[in-house]
Amino acid sequence: MSNNKPHPSQFFSTLSCDEFDEYIRPAPAEVEFETIMAKAVTRRDFFKGSAMLLGTGLFARSALAESAPEGKPSQANTRQAFEFEPVAANTEDTITLPHGYQWKTLLSWGDPLWSQGERFDPDRLTSAHSQAFAFGDNNDGMESFVHQGRQLLAINNEYINFASFYRNRPNHLPMDQDDVIKAQKAVGVSIVEIEASEQGWQRVVDSPFNRKITAHTPIEITGPARGHPLMKTQQDPKGIEAYGTWANCGSGRTPWGTYLTCEENFNGFYSASDPHWVVPDALKRYGLSHQDRGYAWGHFDERFDLAKNPNEPNRSGYVVEIDPTQPDAKPKKRTALGRFKHENAEVTLAQNGQIVIYLGDDERGEFLYRYVSDNAYEPGADTDDLMNNGTLYAAKFHEDGSGEWRALTPATTGMSQAEICIHTRQAASSVHATTMDRPEWVAVHPHQPQAYCALTNNKNRGVKPNQGGDPQPVGGPNPRAANQYGQIIRWLPADQDHGSNRFHWNLFVMAGNPDVYEKGLNTGSPNIHSGNLFNAPDGLQFDTQGQLWIQTDGKTSNQGDFAGMGNNQMLVADPKTGDIRRFMVGPKGCEITGLTWSHDKKTLFVGIQHPGEKGGSTFPDGRLARSSVVALWRTDNQPLG
Ligand code: FEO
Ligand code: CA
Ligand code: CA
Repeated sequence: MSNNKPHPSQFFSTLSCDEFDEYIRPAPAEVEFETIMAKAVTRRDFFKGSAMLLGTGLFARSALAESAPEGKPSQANTRQAFEFEPVAANTEDTITLPHGYQWKTLLSWGDPLWSQGERFDPDRLTSAHSQAFAFGDNNDGMESFVHQGRQLLAINNEYINFASFYRNRPNHLPMDQDDVIKAQKAVGVSIVEIEASEQGWQRVVDSPFNRKITAHTPIEITGPARGHPLMKTQQDPKGIEAYGTWANCGSGRTPWGTYLTCEENFNGFYSASDPHWVVPDALKRYGLSHQDRGYAWGHFDERFDLAKNPNEPNRSGYVVEIDPTQPDAKPKKRTALGRFKHENAEVTLAQNGQIVIYLGDDERGEFLYRYVSDNAYEPGADTDDLMNNGTLYAAKFHEDGSGEWRALTPATTGMSQAEICIHTRQAASSVHATTMDRPEWVAVHPHQPQAYCALTNNKNRGVKPNQGGDPQPVGGPNPRAANQYGQIIRWLPADQDHGSNRFHWNLFVMAGNPDVYEKGLNTGSPNIHSGNLFNAPDGLQFDTQGQLWIQTDGKTSNQGDFAGMGNNQMLVADPKTGDIRRFMVGPKGCEITGLTWSHDKKTLFVGIQHPGEKGGSTFPDGRLARSSVVALWRTDNQPLG
């Protein structure tokens, strides 16, 4: 510990994670004339290609849809699809739902989960002690579990909102060690039991299943990177136990009932006290620098001082497995699933029962991944090996609509298996995977062999390479230069088997604004119209009926290129017809992220992250704006989704 004064980080704390990354470590400039010309040619050629894709690939009669057989209808699948009248875009500071639907706040940052916690008071600054008993900040991905007849929610707490978290501090920045520990206890994962009451769903205070997994929770390091020299630190000289998790973004669930939490923008929590310390290239690739995003953790906790613990960030950026039904079980970092800015972890099965996990790396020009276990899943058998021994692949998309998964192995990369799991971005670069427009959530269709990924936006597309120097040409699944709207790609694995190394792909939707642009790709794909405008698709999840729910984290100016889009929102898409309808609009300045259903599918829980991020919100209760989980339901008491 040191008593250095906190640095003047106010500017950085006001930036979003990707704005911070872009500022602190801009991608290398691209100036060669030949490269620019090559890109121009690629873009011209793609207009032909994308017209072909847009004309044939988006709708029910697409090759993809025709070649995908209907799965066996499940009981849920035969239920009548739920209907709603789409809602209009707006900039209200509340939640807007279709007629016949209602909502209520379930849980907000600062709400105590145990009776020894303090009731949240917006007029008082909380402490590390009060935060230790309370729900964390910036809830993101979540999943629901039923255990012993109880309903449990596992919910990510990604990072903190400086303006509210340190609202009584100068410049809204941490001042002392207690402030830092308070933030370390506001991130990670909350396991919360909930119950239906006459007042609707509410948390069960003091449930034996309530649990907080924070930046202070011991976590076992598993898989190929366990014990590798790059994983060893002062605190953990064997490299086998990490201390905590943070930057927990999207989620996942395994067939055996565990929760997966995905570490994303971990880099912004580290700083270096020695200005002469040289940042290694391997850390630069992950956005690490001398400067943190305002957290000041490195000033009060040496783990986060890169000059003293340069290996510590090698222990972040993983998927962590948690058993929500075992409050004392140690979480496990699954290094076999690679280290990058993980978005979510979508688990499915290959035809032979091997576990297949799709994983996005949310950074401009980084990659889309797939993990395939060596062994097959057998219900009831020990599952510990399935996420320790397997192969990572990175996606290569070809312009003709075909694609392949390129294995990341010692033979293909020249790296050891442990190095592949620690320096995964470098491994994927070495096999020339396709640089993507920020892969966010992946969702696998429940009845058909299809997977979808939200590519949220990428202002560097066609402008400059990624941090590793890999070019970002315009074309293929990333068809727009300086992509400001985002798109959703989908792929159909060969032989209808997610274990196959080949696939066909097309774009399901390109967001855009046909009210602003009369022609060109910024009009969006044909399934975009004045009634469903949105930008920056991010959260994706299928319901049991095969409808795709889309959540956004985009620009909310409602002006210029973004006119008519309003606040961030949630839409429902029909993969067969391409039809997309707006179901919900969130409050001002929020991102909509995370969704899961109650066991009877009659309640949908949705995450409202950072309302009033740039001010102007008092969501949810007319007082201090707080990130919250809300419950949505139909007034006729029928299932939704
Ligand atoms: Fe935490 Fe890429 O979103
Ligand atoms: Ca996200
Ligand atoms: Ca996002």
